[in-house]
Amino acid sequence: MSKITFMSGEKVPLEMHKVRMVQKLNLLPVEDRARKMEEAGYNTFLLKNRDVFLDMLTDSGVNAMSDNQYAAMMQADDSYAGSETFYKLEKVLQDTFGMKYFLPAHQGRACEHIIARTLVTPGSVALMNYHFTTTKALITLSGGSVEEIIDDEGLKIESSASFKGDIDIEKLNEAIKRIGKDKISFVRIEAGTNLVGGQPVSMQNIRDVSRICRKEGIVFVFDASLLADNLYFIKTREEEFKNSEIIDIAREIGSLSDIFYFSGRKLGTARGGGILTSDEKLHARMRELIPLFEGFITYGGMSVREMEAMAVGIRETMDYNVISQTPVFIEALSNELISKGVPVVTPPGGLGCHVDASRFCEHIPRNQYIAGSLNAAIFIASGVRGMERGTLSEQRNEDGSEQMADMELVRLAIPKRVFTLSQIKYTADRISWLFKNRRLIGGLEFIEEPSVLRFFFGRLKPIGDWPELLVRQFRKDFGDSL
Ligand SMILES: Cc1ncc(COP(=O)(O)O)c(C=O)c1O
Repeated sequence: MSKITFMSGEKVPLEMHKVRMVQKLNLLPVEDRARKMEEAGYNTFLLKNRDVFLDMLTDSGVNAMSDNQYAAMMQADDSYAGSETFYKLEKVLQDTFGMKYFLPAHQGRACEHIIARTLVTPGSVALMNYHFTTTKALITLSGGSVEEIIDDEGLKIESSASFKGDIDIEKLNEAIKRIGKDKISFVRIEAGTNLVGGQPVSMQNIRDVSRICRKEGIVFVFDASLLADNLYFIKTREEEFKNSEIIDIAREIGSLSDIFYFSGRKLGTARGGGILTSDEKLHARMRELIPLFEGFITYGGMSVREMEAMAVGIRETMDYNVISQTPVFIEALSNELISKGVPVVTPPGGLGCHVDASRFCEHIPRNQYIAGSLNAAIFIASGVRGMERGTLSEQRNEDGSEQMADMELVRLAIPKRVFTLSQIKYTADRISWLFKNRRLIGGLEFIEEPSVLRFFFGRLKPIGDWPELLVRQFRKDFGDSL
């Protein structure tokens, strides 16, 4: 959003784009929403999109693309090897992040797979600000483990810290001393920490971590999947960068990283992924795995059309007016909810608005999947599909006990340039209603529990008849409104 002041003084997140292609939405009556939720095993991943009104599950692969991205897709050079499209994307990535080599992959977790296979040895430890679901699963699969060394502020729901995603430098130094650098597979910073409220990392922290890693000879990996919002926060919250160009911030991050990878479903607003490095040896080791797991090294499992869209999308990510839209909408939704007393993660971060299910549903026992329950209740109350980011998204411990999440959150993702302000207001209205009626919400229990990444296709059932009570109250309060 550009600097536009309204006469009223009100902070309105004004869209700096216009909508020229639309998709019709469907809002089912509340009784049908409850039935669809039951059919989906109270897991919003298992809902059919046709039954969803506002899809706030994720931004992954569903951000609005620009006219220039669609135009570029028409020029794709379809060839197995040596496609012109590959060289175009490679050049954009090299120019933007200042790194030498680009390895394409079909999405973010594919990059993580390649990196884990290259760097993780049995018994090794990967240090990071915070894990992402697929990152941790793939490191564990290679016999390694994850240790989180995020700043204490990062795990507080409410805070005034600007960069809650920062690594605690003291914890990093202590962990290197305790574990020994030879047993550390890599140190990873995740921009825009997905599982703990989309909280950004400061450039100062990236500099400090990079310096320590280089001094110790430890590989520094930067997960740039959520970099777009993080770039916005570095510019707006870190004094030194307030007059900087976005591309200069991006380039500095590239220069500080040994390996830089991203989900192109998020960064670049297309569908794909990639790994960048300037290290010849690391490049050679990772390159060998690309044809084996992804595809030939000039497409890596991606469609050339998506690669064209990604090249334009990466360039557009360097435009402040493009990247500011999501964070200002998240701030608007968070502030609207806060004004109604709804507990959310503060300060508002990137990716989405994160509702604190622990406080919202403090009457639900921890072992009954608080965030999963609230997520299902939100869908019944509104047709808005969020994502559980709590204990359900964790894997059980080896002894079968629950790995309780640090936070029980429902994430309402705001895909880039997809929703309007009235849709944001509708979401806030229904969640505020639910907050007033929160005592009606009950817990969930598994009826089918996969052993890996169970949140994707596990099925649950309600404990008690709370979904029916919720529907009855909705009808009482909203009459025949959808
Ligand atoms: C921080 C982060 N890293 C990695 C990934 C994995 O990317 P993908 O979904 O493209 O496999 C994601 C996806 O949400 C992410 O948010």
